[in-house]
Amino acid sequence: MLTAALLGVSTSYFGGIGVFSLPHLWSDCFHKKKCGKKKRVRVYMDGCFDLMHYGHANALRQAKALGDELVVGVVSDEEIIANKGPPVLSMEERLALVSGLKWVDEVIANAPYAITEQFMNRLFNEHKIDYIIHGDDPCLLPDGTDAYALAKKVGRYKQIKRTEGVSSTDIVGRILSSMEDTKACEDHNNASLPRDPLRAIQSKDAHLSQFLPTSRRIVQFSNCKGPGPNARVVYIDGAFDLFHAGHVEILKKARQLGDFLLVGIYTDQIVSEHRGSYHPIMHLHERSLSVLACRYVDEVIIGAPWEVTKDMGQSDPYEVAKSMGIFQLLESPKSITTTSVAQRIIANHEAYMKRNAKKAVSEKKYYEQKMFVSGD
Ligand code: CTP
Repeated sequence: MLTAALLGVSTSYFGGIGVFSLPHLWSDCFHKKKCGKKKRVRVYMDGCFDLMHYGHANALRQAKALGDELVVGVVSDEEIIANKGPPVLSMEERLALVSGLKWVDEVIANAPYAITEQFMNRLFNEHKIDYIIHGDDPCLLPDGTDAYALAKKVGRYKQIKRTEGVSSTDIVGRILSSMEDTKACEDHNNASLPRDPLRAIQSKDAHLSQFLPTSRRIVQFSNCKGPGPNARVVYIDGAFDLFHAGHVEILKKARQLGDFLLVGIYTDQIVSEHRGSYHPIMHLHERSLSVLACRYVDEVIIGAPWEVTKDMGQSDPYEVAKSMGIFQLLESPKSITTTSVAQRIIANHEAYMKRNAKKAVSEKKYYEQKMFVSGD
């Protein structure tokens, strides 16, 4: 129903600010709903959510924990262009990603980048928002002023801890550096020179993830329950690299086939073997968190085998499942792929390099000056 709602509203909503509610598939195991007569606390977090990653998901998880209902504003393409540079994903794609997260209750499309007085009053009066939330990284407008100054002034601002080791800038950087490495490698090959293996290792290291996976983070993202006794368990596997709107759609479709969705995430080695040495762009733990954050997913296997069988070496990985009559092929409703997302960045690499150089300065400053806030 989510996608139907999304696509249904797309033509009318995407021209202006639109809001819609999302279904609850997940009973929150950590952030217990405050029942009874007490007023439900509604919190608002906004963002660009371009190339959405588990840092964004973790921000929204923390925001949800500060209230009962989480409303998310997805900043418009025009506002992102004016404040940061061109987004990689369209408004529709970013909305689909945010809407697919299990902590999100409502989304507002085409939100402004800065909390203006007019928009803040709309949040308070129309959307009944109690608090506006943002990560502890400074969010400055082109004139150097704080995008959340007004919310802070009226005492309705709360802060969460930014998730270290990941950012859209970092992901764009990984894609751009793999492009440079591929090009350098081609130049090398064209010149018929032997390839220096050390250089290859060093350059791949240059865009390795800085993320440190912890068991607690996995628990925070988990649903904490297995399938019921008579549950119809659906298994779907894949790389789920650069988690995108097509992944959300296929997971939704898969979940609708049963009562419990188990997702197998291929190891980094399997992805490299099948997609090439610069894949995956996001490593196994990063990909697993992105999938776990999706509202349609019940559980993940972190490092699933290629074959759905104990016997390695089958030419058809689904042979056993097929022979048991439990295999079904799902057609992807969207044409977006990990490669097509990476190609958007490569095709417009100069603009993204510029955007990255600008953001890298503020990220460096954040890490140098960061103040620890409570929360995780
Ligand atoms: N955020 C976070 N941890 C990250 C990245 C983002 O907590 N690693 C938070 C931001 O503080 C913000 C929200 O996620 O409250 C949305 O972020 P967004 O507007 O997309 O922009 P950035 O902060 O620039 O994130 P990125 O660099 O990844 O684009």
